[in-house]
Amino acid sequence: MTVCSAPGKVYLFGEHAVVYGEPAVPCAIERRARVTAEPRSDDHVRVEAEDLSLDGFTVEYDGAVGDHPDVDVERSLLDAAMGYIDAAVSQAREAAGEPDAGFDIAVESDIPLGAGLGSSAAVVVAGIDAATRALGEPLSPRELADRAYRAEYDVQDGQASRADTFCSAMGGAVRVEGDDCERIKTPNLPFVVGFDGGAGDTGALVAGVRELKAEYDFAADTVTSIGDIVREGERILETADPDAEPESELLAELGDLMNFNHGLLSALGVSARSLDSMVWAARDAGAHGAKLTGAGGGGCIVALDPTPETETALSFTQGCADAFRAELATEGVRVEAP
Ligand code: MEV
Repeated sequence: MTVCSAPGKVYLFGEHAVVYGEPAVPCAIERRARVTAEPRSDDHVRVEAEDLSLDGFTVEYDGAVGDHPDVDVERSLLDAAMGYIDAAVSQAREAAGEPDAGFDIAVESDIPLGAGLGSSAAVVVAGIDAATRALGEPLSPRELADRAYRAEYDVQDGQASRADTFCSAMGGAVRVEGDDCERIKTPNLPFVVGFDGGAGDTGALVAGVRELKAEYDFAADTVTSIGDIVREGERILETADPDAEPESELLAELGDLMNFNHGLLSALGVSARSLDSMVWAARDAGAHGAKLTGAGGGGCIVALDPTPETETALSFTQGCADAFRAELATEGVRVEAP
């Protein structure tokens, strides 16, 4: 029985635009998905998943995604969760050269599904790591990131960047621009997350931005402007001492860029009333900046605030189901039990 875990993430800047080759800076956070893989003697895959912000479910299927349990959760979320696990198993089988390998898989996660915190990337990265290790063919974090990207790419019909999967595999803050992915140094930024209890449909949201961008030059310019914000944010991060507590001047500069980034994401139609009201609650509470994180449509916002004020304000904000401080996860994918 092999257990691996991988972290979720927040986007400091750059989601959506990264799909079109602009840079993005996601940061791994200490909320993890843990996947257990145990090889079976047949070619079946049995998945047990609890705490995925779904009521726990158990499903036995033969590798086809069409086979579903009768559980009381939104079908699209369940389809998505099963699709990602199925894709992770396919990647592990291919990487290990064992196309008929069967597994008992258990997934436990404290990252809400489809909420912009990289739940699917974390499950896929941890899943490929656990399954390949269980077959005696461990991969490096970069190979895992690449396999996990291919899995997400398949499930999301080619509409995925490398950002979520690379960040989850490597940990820390990363910079992704097309196929160019690297870890970057940042101070320990004081992230606060607000969660509206809902989820967005990543595929539909990405497709919506693609259509806007194709139809209007100003939407295409908006995507480029998000890239400009990221470049400016990187410049600011480069001036910071990664080993010191971030100074409030640095947080103010990054916060301004986050606010700008949120405005542009709203213009591209991927915010939601619940996300906007959490963003404003955070700003009113004194956060240096706040923006939605991930695909949007519902789910989470991320704010910068070293004080307890934003977390407290969010916990009293109508439409905010959960508010918590998110520590930067310096470690990416890791083995919990060999
Ligand atoms: C989703 O977490 C982030 C998006 O930029 C899609 C992607 O990068 O694959 C919206």
